[in-house]
Amino acid sequence: MCGIVGCIGKNHGREYIISGLKTLDYRGYDSAGIAFSKNNSIEVYKDAGSVEHLDSLIPEKEDGKVIIGHTRWATHGKPNKTNSHPHFSYDQEFVIVHNGIVENIGELKEFLSKKGIKFVSDTDTEAIASLIAFEYKNEKDVLKAIRKSMEQIHGSYAIGLIHRGEDRLYVMKNASPLIIGLGDGFNLIASDASPMIEFTNKFIELEDKEYGFIDATDFSLFDMHGRAVSKELISKNADLIRHDLNGYEHFMLKEIEEIPSVISRLVNHYASDGEYKFDKELIKKIKGADHIIFLACGTSYHASLVGGRYFESLLGIPTTSYIASEWAFHPMLPGKKPFIIFISQSGETADLIHCLKIVKKSNHDTLIITNTNGSTLDRGCKYSLNVQAGVEVSVASTKAYSAQVALLLLLVGAVKEDPSIVKDIMGSLPIIDFIKKDKKQIIKAVATQIKDHKSLFYIGRGYDYFLSMEASLKLKEISYIHSEAIAGGELKHGPIALIEQGTPVIVFITDKVTAASMRSNIEEVKSRGANVFVISTKELSKNTDTIVIKDYPSYISSIIVSSVAFYLAYFTSLLKGYNVDKPRNLAKSVTVE
Ligand code: M6R
Repeated sequence: MCGIVGCIGKNHGREYIISGLKTLDYRGYDSAGIAFSKNNSIEVYKDAGSVEHLDSLIPEKEDGKVIIGHTRWATHGKPNKTNSHPHFSYDQEFVIVHNGIVENIGELKEFLSKKGIKFVSDTDTEAIASLIAFEYKNEKDVLKAIRKSMEQIHGSYAIGLIHRGEDRLYVMKNASPLIIGLGDGFNLIASDASPMIEFTNKFIELEDKEYGFIDATDFSLFDMHGRAVSKELISKNADLIRHDLNGYEHFMLKEIEEIPSVISRLVNHYASDGEYKFDKELIKKIKGADHIIFLACGTSYHASLVGGRYFESLLGIPTTSYIASEWAFHPMLPGKKPFIIFISQSGETADLIHCLKIVKKSNHDTLIITNTNGSTLDRGCKYSLNVQAGVEVSVASTKAYSAQVALLLLLVGAVKEDPSIVKDIMGSLPIIDFIKKDKKQIIKAVATQIKDHKSLFYIGRGYDYFLSMEASLKLKEISYIHSEAIAGGELKHGPIALIEQGTPVIVFITDKVTAASMRSNIEEVKSRGANVFVISTKELSKNTDTIVIKDYPSYISSIIVSSVAFYLAYFTSLLKGYNVDKPRNLAKSVTVE
């Protein structure tokens, strides 16, 4: 996902923009650029590659009064210098950075081409800049030109725009996040608060279809009727926003080890003093639903499977978990009174936003479980619950998954009015800590044994199957080993054909109900030559098991044993010498469908 930072009136503005772009790099990018504006001149530096590379292209003395920076994740056009942002308008009077995707780009380009306007890049962004410049020629007023352009642009955009010679940084937004940070004698913009939190804790969040500008001391925002809108100042919990390795070598490791503190913060937030603190109306709506529908992708989808099992087994409410990108092509809303739960760490996943648009055509209630307040899904759903995980930088989602599962369980506990659930969740903390203190070495030893294999399997049943799916995704995502999760009972229906001498098979056995069947599965794969690693709980363990964890109520397994899976993926990637936090081809937020 692209990232935007901008500033006006800031001392050491260049440093702020460079470090801001680095802060946003967790979102994933393939090229970067900066525009410096002062007096009547605008200098643009950009290229494919890293922010460090960009920095090396900029002369040491370069600075500006108004500066915009961008990290690009290619959508329209290849990742190269020409397509990198910022982009000039055809007349070189405007320069722009943009996050999002223009849906009617063909139409807009045709319109502008007919007016004799040419394009140098393949991007939709350049067309926005030229459209604004074109409208400005008629309107002679930048704000009016922006509004007229917004009327013609369909799609998502968060935009920072500079007009040559003006000490203003213009902004416009629709369906892509953009935040203003108010400083003392300077103002900032960014895609999220993380690059700004060191300099201010006064934020303004733009709503869809708002536009305006900041100067060094003030801001003005308008709606699509050209009326000024008054905005509320927002402050943020700096601890949850800051990106800081805190002595760790990688964000992923730091984030795995934050899981216990995330869970206790979550419990404190939603169930302090033995009492559930959820919105009563939300609980009532869930109680009244005859079907819970989950929509999510990737890791969040895996959390939804666990959550679905909680609703079914603890509340008796039927559920269906859908992969968002699949559901969107065949939208189904089972039940007469369905309640729809979206799960998304980022709150910006395009596949889910697409689903939300479809769901909104009906009148059903929606809840988003997210880690990102102010995100598109957070603002688009009727109810929103934050997982309190704090910013997750590593592309591989870890603490957000554990928090999603724990929050779903707390929600079920609140509907059930069962305080024992809170106790069980809190009971997971010392066990996760025990994994961290006592089991890391053995997990690393397993990583050494699997790291050179091309392919492996995770197997489990029930909660352990859901966990296998998440473990498998995590491993393939950062170690690039082909990994597949198989429900124990499904082995004999095909996948067992793939087991040969030495194939690693990692088995979870944490549930009494399925333990005996899993032991039979182990015999089946062993007899075909598999190299089996068993992760079990004490009461279900055998002497030969690889990792044995203290006992706990099996339904909280996903909160606990996921740590083992996360460490295993982490160590495997590390041993293979890969970029753990930024795996190839992946972005933290997937804002394209
Ligand atoms: O932000 P979201 O939770 O909506 O993201 C969904 C997936 O893209 C995400 O969970 C992805 O699968 C992770 N990188 C896995 O670690």
